[in-house]
Amino acid sequence: MCETGHCFDCAREGYVNLLPASHKRSKDPGDNREMIDARHRVHQARLYHPLAEKIGIIMKALIGQNALVLDLGCGEGYYSSVLHQVAGKLRVHGVDVSKPAIRIAARSCPNAHFAVASSFDVPLASRSVDAAFSVFAPTGAAELARLVRPGGYFLDVSPAPSHLWELRELLYDNPRAHEQVVRELPSFEQASSEAVEFILELTAEQLRDLVAMTPYAYGGQRENKGQLARLDALELQVAFSLYLYRRLPS
Ligand SMILES: C[S@@+](CC[C@H](N)C(=O)[O-])C[C@H]1O[C@@H](n2cnc3c(N)ncnc32)[C@H](O)[C@@H]1O
Repeated sequence: MCETGHCFDCAREGYVNLLPASHKRSKDPGDNREMIDARHRVHQARLYHPLAEKIGIIMKALIGQNALVLDLGCGEGYYSSVLHQVAGKLRVHGVDVSKPAIRIAARSCPNAHFAVASSFDVPLASRSVDAAFSVFAPTGAAELARLVRPGGYFLDVSPAPSHLWELRELLYDNPRAHEQVVRELPSFEQASSEAVEFILELTAEQLRDLVAMTPYAYGGQRENKGQLARLDALELQVAFSLYLYRRLPS
């Protein structure tokens, strides 16, 4: 029970569901089961580990022990769990609208706290967050401004223009680079930006999972998809942009 008398159940796995049915846009919001399972396998194979490690290193340099870190749109909690390993004793919280993703997160990272909740309506007190981050997930400027304490941080991780380029070349006759999106965050100032880039050598199975966890699962020309399905390996570049913002005093 919270201070104001609201009650909620804690699931066997240790997470709480704080997404009221009236706030759901669909019966099963967020990523579907297929995408979640594929992404979980990709993370278990540590394919994006250099990115996770980099997030941990950045966070460790910014905040002290016991700081509260929030993973927005945390999915299966992979980045939260690496953060614990890299940055040590922190209070890590993760939210995602997808219940199956949060269920996996709570099982695989028992030292963190997970809730089924929207990044636009996070069940944490105003100015209680020392640092928030989001990897390829939606967030809102107003909710970030409410949550992050003055002087705290928000790290936004998004795909850089060349992310998964070879995959797009295979899927589309006229592939286009990812559009670089820099967020408008009026209550924050940009503190720094960095790139993380590396090459993945994928087996056929890993390639299938990587496609299944992205919107490419539903895109591409049909004959190109057939060609992709017949590959038994692929070298693929991954490229991420990391924008760090500092919360202004208000
Ligand atoms: C591309 S996935 C990234 C997951 C995780 N950050 C990762 O990189 O492994 C985007 C995630 O955002 C979640 N999501 C979508 N809309 C959301 C919202 N309004 N609030 C919280 N999570 C949301 C989806 O369920 C999905 O797990």
